Amino acid sequence: MLMQARQESALARQDFPSDFIWGVATSAYQIEGAHDKDGRAPSVWDEFCEQPGAIADGSDGKIACDHYHRYEEDLDLIADLGVNAYRFSISWSRVQPDGLGAWNEAGFAFYERLIQGLNKRGIQVHITLNHWDMPAALQRQGGWARRETCEHFVRYALEVARRFGDRTSSLCTHNEPWVIAILGHELGVFAPGLKSRKLAMQVAHHLLLSHGMAVRALRDAGIRTELGIVLNLSPIYPASDSPADMQKAILDDGLNARWYLDALFKGCYPEDVLAHLGADTPVIEAGDMTTIAHPLDFLGVNYYTRNFSSTGNPWDVHSTGNEVTDMGWEVYPQGLTELLCRLHKDYSVKRLRVTENGAAFKDEMLNGEVNDERREAYLREHIKATHDAQVQGVPVDAYFAWSLMDNFEWASGYEKRFGLVHVDYSTLKRTPKRSARWYQHFLKA
Ligand code: FCB
Repeated sequence: MLMQARQESALARQDFPSDFIWGVATSAYQIEGAHDKDGRAPSVWDEFCEQPGAIADGSDGKIACDHYHRYEEDLDLIADLGVNAYRFSISWSRVQPDGLGAWNEAGFAFYERLIQGLNKRGIQVHITLNHWDMPAALQRQGGWARRETCEHFVRYALEVARRFGDRTSSLCTHNEPWVIAILGHELGVFAPGLKSRKLAMQVAHHLLLSHGMAVRALRDAGIRTELGIVLNLSPIYPASDSPADMQKAILDDGLNARWYLDALFKGCYPEDVLAHLGADTPVIEAGDMTTIAHPLDFLGVNYYTRNFSSTGNPWDVHSTGNEVTDMGWEVYPQGLTELLCRLHKDYSVKRLRVTENGAAFKDEMLNGEVNDERREAYLREHIKATHDAQVQGVPVDAYFAWSLMDNFEWASGYEKRFGLVHVDYSTLKRTPKRSARWYQHFLKA
């Protein structure tokens, strides 16, 4: 009965506009492997993985899913899902090994094959330029902490756009700048593993600046593909109604969300965050904020869970009784609706896209099948949450599930599985899970 009621009230693809973008997402370092093939040079993630203890299972992305060699099979898997879009990233050090000198034609040839394969299958191409894997050679010169890096990034963006722009639906400059800045440069748990808040805030500023510079340069060059940036965003609630927790929640929202959103959409950094940073405030040159706020076509939102801020004991994720994923993240689909509505209301973003959404669970392969009901439910509920926002007038036009297949989950290594397709890391065999079948059914129905 319950099952039946659930089915009857289930949302259908037809409840969304016919031109809604349905996709799956991946990123280069997490799937490609072939770390030294055809002239690819190391990225900061290759080097970070070598640091003892950096990755939970001691692994790295040297082979990953070997997508570099198996992309044809993966393209078929994507097409089989019935999606009309694929979001992936380009490995900068594959196409420009040192990040500032010569282009690597063999590296570009791989993306040429991939894009042709997508075009041939009628699947939109959504490219991310920087999904965290900057060339290690550029890091040696100071990386994102150095202002000159912004200019190198612009050259890279222009070159990618020159080659692929006319066959690409969208170009995203950076994926989750907060993660690069804070996890990579303040907490040191992600590449490049540095630990300085001052450095981190300078990096955050340069990422935003390089985004704005690239958008302006791409427009000036007459590139017509849609341009945007992707942020990791979550509603942040106070863990209690104590004034201290409430203050903390506002500040954390400032550091995680408003720092980026105010800069991109209002051309300034939030006053409360600047006051809080004090001596850690980055160097901001005249004109930078106008550059950062150069108009963009879409804002991508990566949503996984909500967060709580507390000045006392850390929030117990199990306290709500809601399901918790293998990452320790609470399943809270309403947070996505709330977030999209807020972005529309506070920032009047003209086009929003859910560029990542998904869940890690401990999957079991039984008789050749992975019965990941919980992932299926997660996706279904978050697609519904996206629809709820749309019904409230929020201009959201895309949903990308994270991820096409199990892959290298950064500092968690291969222990956390987010894929709709299972990957056996000893044979690299791909097996679509139940969630893949569900998505396919939803999209084809
Ligand atoms: C996001 C990343 C993506 C993936 C998911 C689980 O922060 O953009 O690469 O690791 O988390």
